[in-house]
Amino acid sequence: MSTATFTLALLLLVSADHLKPCIAEETCSLDSGDCHADVKSVFLDQQKSEDLLALTVATDETDGFRRFLRSAKVYDIPVTVLGQNEAWVGGDMHYAGGGQKVELLKNELEKYKNDKNKIVLFTDSYDVIFLAGVDKILNQFEKSGAKILFSAEGFCWPDKNLASKYPNVLLGKRFLNSGGFIGYAPEVYQLVSTWKGTAKDDDQLFYTERYLDDDVRAALKMKLDHKGEIFQNLNGAVGDIELEFSDEDGAIINNVVYKTKPLIVHGNGPAKQALNTLGNYLAKSWDPKTGCTTCETNLRELPKDGKPWPVVLVSIFIGQPTPFLEEFINKIVALDYPKSAIHLFIHNKAEYHAKQLSKFVTEHGSDYQSVEFIEHIEDTCEESGRNKAISHCVGLNCEYLFVVDSIAHLDNKETLKNLIEQNRPVIAPLLTRHKKAWSNFWGALNSDGYYARSADYLQIVEGERKGVWNVPHISACYLVQGSILADEHLRPTYTSSRGVDPDMAFCESLRHNDIFMFVDNLKDFGHLIHADNFDTSHMHNELYQIFDNQWDFEQRYIHPNYTACFNPNHTNLQPCPDVYWFPIVTPRYCDELVAEMENFGQWSEGKNSDPRLDGGYENVPTRDIHMKQVGMEQHWLEFLRVYVRPVQELVFHGYVHDPPRAIMNFVVRYRPDEQPFLRPHHDSSTYTINIALNTPNVDFEGGGCRFIRYNCSVVDTRKGWMLMHPGRLTHYHEGLYVTKGTRYIMVSFVDP
Ligand SMILES: *[C@@H]1O[C@H](CO)[C@@H](O)[C@H](O)[C@H]1NC(C)=O
Ligand SMILES: *[C@@H]1O[C@H](CO)[C@@H](O)[C@H](O)[C@H]1NC(C)=O
Ligand SMILES: *[C@@H]1O[C@H](CO)[C@@H](O)[C@H](O)[C@H]1NC(C)=O
Repeated sequence: MSTATFTLALLLLVSADHLKPCIAEETCSLDSGDCHADVKSVFLDQQKSEDLLALTVATDETDGFRRFLRSAKVYDIPVTVLGQNEAWVGGDMHYAGGGQKVELLKNELEKYKNDKNKIVLFTDSYDVIFLAGVDKILNQFEKSGAKILFSAEGFCWPDKNLASKYPNVLLGKRFLNSGGFIGYAPEVYQLVSTWKGTAKDDDQLFYTERYLDDDVRAALKMKLDHKGEIFQNLNGAVGDIELEFSDEDGAIINNVVYKTKPLIVHGNGPAKQALNTLGNYLAKSWDPKTGCTTCETNLRELPKDGKPWPVVLVSIFIGQPTPFLEEFINKIVALDYPKSAIHLFIHNKAEYHAKQLSKFVTEHGSDYQSVEFIEHIEDTCEESGRNKAISHCVGLNCEYLFVVDSIAHLDNKETLKNLIEQNRPVIAPLLTRHKKAWSNFWGALNSDGYYARSADYLQIVEGERKGVWNVPHISACYLVQGSILADEHLRPTYTSSRGVDPDMAFCESLRHNDIFMFVDNLKDFGHLIHADNFDTSHMHNELYQIFDNQWDFEQRYIHPNYTACFNPNHTNLQPCPDVYWFPIVTPRYCDELVAEMENFGQWSEGKNSDPRLDGGYENVPTRDIHMKQVGMEQHWLEFLRVYVRPVQELVFHGYVHDPPRAIMNFVVRYRPDEQPFLRPHHDSSTYTINIALNTPNVDFEGGGCRFIRYNCSVVDTRKGWMLMHPGRLTHYHEGLYVTKGTRYIMVSFVDP
């Protein structure tokens, strides 16, 4: 953008709103200062708001700069930007060596040096947000009695040795900060015209030395805004302030130490992170009444008329064996986005998934514009794979890089579309482990750059506050604009110079380049898989995921009609007296459990002597395998607790035992050439559950369960359905003869 067009744009920001009629109250005097609301009116008789000249220096259009301009627009402050498109020579990161700022200011103020009515407000821009309009700012300045008022902070910088030369202050910050000041144009011009330094010299040092010169200070009536009446520097003062939601202005800052409500906030130095967090709310960005006002502006509209969609490189990273990868892949395939506009990049480090991924590429690869499939089974260096995705995206000239780790389940098909629509440099969908506070973003950082919890972390995670949030760290799934990757000065890297993990390195490099990262919780986008302790030593390892990933376990294994039995209008089936019948697990669960058992293969001999039991003796033996033998005992007890116990409490009303106990949990195999039936017996249980794992007249013939006292049999058993009946006394029963094939049932004797 050229300087000329930019100035024009800024002119459009000027509105006539603040030129209100001024009615002075007779009772109010400027000096008393105790009739706050009216001072403004009196004051405006003397100073017009158009007398304010708001200046800043910005050589780059960073995200912080855009935030600054937005806040100026919100409060109708017309800002003139100096240095646009000039090369920045004033030191690294715009924080040290700001001589260029003084030079630009000196040149600009030349034309106002005799304008006694002009009041110059100078602020930094990358880390500054306006919190109020021109009237309030001018009013506070007038009250200060200064001709030039600098912002103040608690650190004497850049030369600590000057600290003792500062006048003492009773209350407030003692040292000058040059990131914000306000003053009459002639005085400010006088001040900057004495600048003799180079662009690389330090502006703050220059202003400090002027201020510490008693003659200069007196002559120019220089003062510091010790208590933050106008300027709030955040460095070293984050603990002094609170976010406050006001009816009129939305979110404002309350300095609880000095009891002030600052009008301009500056996230100087390391406090820029704190400013980013506050910036989510300030300048009417978010408050409890309006919600997120920045979420509906500046959106990118996706084509509706068959025009081509933005080209996205979807990069999938499988960093470790991950439970429920099958579902993960299905959700990628299901994304509501034209596959012709998607390039795939798959980076797999887990041999465990090699076959599964090859199969996916074979079956679905040709639907996408291209597929790059990299398997570094032996290579533990994850960063190179991730860096490759970035260069691949650049090579393809893609508009977006969409990174999805194998733990990130995108349950919402619209996720990719929604993220693109938000039109942010880097944006992640909020994902959490199901119903846990563990998420894919950090709300704050500690001094080493690691995780710290922000004050609003839980409100964001739990969706109590919905919006698109500027955060210092994201992971697992995010969308990056291709323009950032294409610019070699902005391009992030996963390579760390200080040995942190690739995700941290990536976010550090974005922060270093002042590129904002956002997390979006406007909708439910999906969830995170807990993959850290994934035990892959079994055949069907997801059967063991009831603890770590219970929600996913349910989706795959719990019968979709299981919950219907809790509907008060539903009559639960009772095929025999006090024998209840419920759908509980999916056919897939049955198949995988049977396969797991057959894979283990050590079926018991069906004899009375049984070394697996404490007493070594089984009165009514079957051919079976205990859950203990396949390492599933604890998981099964959890299954009883979570899914079986509530059903028991429903039908055998008044009997409550939580958690249920069960020593005997096992899969039984009946077949004609082995053990085809079980003689009549009582179970040693309060109640017994018996889940059919396959289907009569398909997998076997005969079979079933007969309750002798009632002369009642259940023979048409249903795969995945559970029979529940009392164990002793009334429900003497037998296993009926299997005449053909193999019948499998899962049995537990609960509360023996
Ligand atoms: C669940 O119940 C409904 C209504 O009875 C039935 O139509 C549907 O087939 C059942 N679903 C399954 C998977 O059995
Ligand atoms: C049960 O049935 C009643 C009457 O038909 C109905 O109003 C109610 O919504 C039903 N309850 C549930 C949980 O379906
Ligand atoms: C048990 O039921 C079967 C079939 O319903 C019937 O043929 C038989 O006579 C019954 N036995 C007794 C003792 O009632």
